[in-house]
Amino acid sequence: MKLVTTIAQLRQELKALGRKDKTLGLVPTMGYLHEGHRSLIRKAKEQNDLVVVSDFVNPTQFGPNEDYDKYPRDIDRDCKAAEEAGADIVFHPDASEIYVPGASTEVEVKGETTHKLCGASRPIHFKGVTTIVCTLFHIVQPDRAYFGQKDAQQVVVVKKMVRDLHIPVKIVPCPIVREADGLAKSSRNIYLTPEQHQQALSLSRGLQKARDFFAGSTADHTSAEKLKKVIRQEISAQPLSDIEYVEVVDTDTLDKIEKIEPGKRALAAVAVRFGSTRLIDNTILGGK
Ligand code: PAJ
Repeated sequence: MKLVTTIAQLRQELKALGRKDKTLGLVPTMGYLHEGHRSLIRKAKEQNDLVVVSDFVNPTQFGPNEDYDKYPRDIDRDCKAAEEAGADIVFHPDASEIYVPGASTEVEVKGETTHKLCGASRPIHFKGVTTIVCTLFHIVQPDRAYFGQKDAQQVVVVKKMVRDLHIPVKIVPCPIVREADGLAKSSRNIYLTPEQHQQALSLSRGLQKARDFFAGSTADHTSAEKLKKVIRQEISAQPLSDIEYVEVVDTDTLDKIEKIEPGKRALAAVAVRFGSTRLIDNTILGGK
């Protein structure tokens, strides 16, 4: 496994590995790799000859009062984890390698998809995500790129960008990986105190209760309002929780829905703060 920090080195390394005659998967990450990231890398290795993992804390997707400076970083540990999971190259550039002096080009998916849910409290976030992901697609030129369903809105927005700009890459969404206790794995989980961690289990519990409620046969089991209430009740019972949103929306457009129509799917998504740590989680309701 090779660690490269410049675009020139990356291109050289890909050439040396015979990229031209091989399939290539990209796993974009901000590092501090955990089992969620590793599952993406393993999937990429299953489906491609070569795998590049980008490890870059992207400054443009953090708001001015967010945790860019204190975001956890450990490149040595990341290289070991990436190698074990099957990566051929870890691309770990400096911000100045990506955002050249005077850079003024941004990629923005306009409209509601980027301004609802997480976009409501993080207005510049998705513009930063699409700018870096598009830039990485141009640098690495992968056949496939792997994204976790943990960030369900990110998957919707990236797919839209790829479609709108005719980028020749297949987006492969991958399932959410959880701790044994149900908490969705996140690089930010290390910020939680043991008490906050315990109370944060209400996110996955609330989503599970929504799945159970949806599977039931009461007259309102498909009502988005009722499903949201089930989730909200579970999370708001935790004194340290501060709910940012609980939504049940269309899986493709992220539009609000009133009820889940027979045979259709919906996304139940939550964002909750515990102290200064913001956690997100989601589940699919309905469908196969
Ligand atoms: P990051 O938070 O490091 O996540 C990298 C990838 O890992 C994302 O696709 C994310 O959805 C996935 N992931 C994180 N936790 C997961 C879990 N518990 N189960 C499954 N997948 C999980 O998302 C980003 O970085 C950035 O926005 C990025 C796309 C790299 C652009 O900077």
